[in-house]
Amino acid sequence: LSQEFVRVADSRLLREGEAVTVDANGREVLLARAAGRVYAVSNLCSHAEGWLEFGTVHVASCEIECPLHQGRFDLQTGAATAEPCIDPIPAYVAYEDDDGIYVETRSGDDA
Ligand code: FES
Repeated sequence: LSQEFVRVADSRLLREGEAVTVDANGREVLLARAAGRVYAVSNLCSHAEGWLEFGTVHVASCEIECPLHQGRFDLQTGAATAEPCIDPIPAYVAYEDDDGIYVETRSGDDA
């Protein structure tokens, strides 16, 4: 599959330590900024459907903490890093340039 990217936000939308949800070609994606870099993962926690956009970004460890039961995920890989979360969440390739923030999309991929 070839990678395609869609522009999802202005860079100014996302400050250090913040998380926001955006629409990337119909897919709800959580953007978070940690140590200056932008990461993109699913907004839905794999434990019990908490919305990660209301959680806490841990900048030093590059994690997002779920607001419901304080489970955590690695923002880079989507791997669960703290209980009660066990299953990973989808992580997407994201990058930023002078124009804004971009997230990968693949047609036919519903993950
Ligand atoms: S719903 Fe996210 S930790 Fe339980």
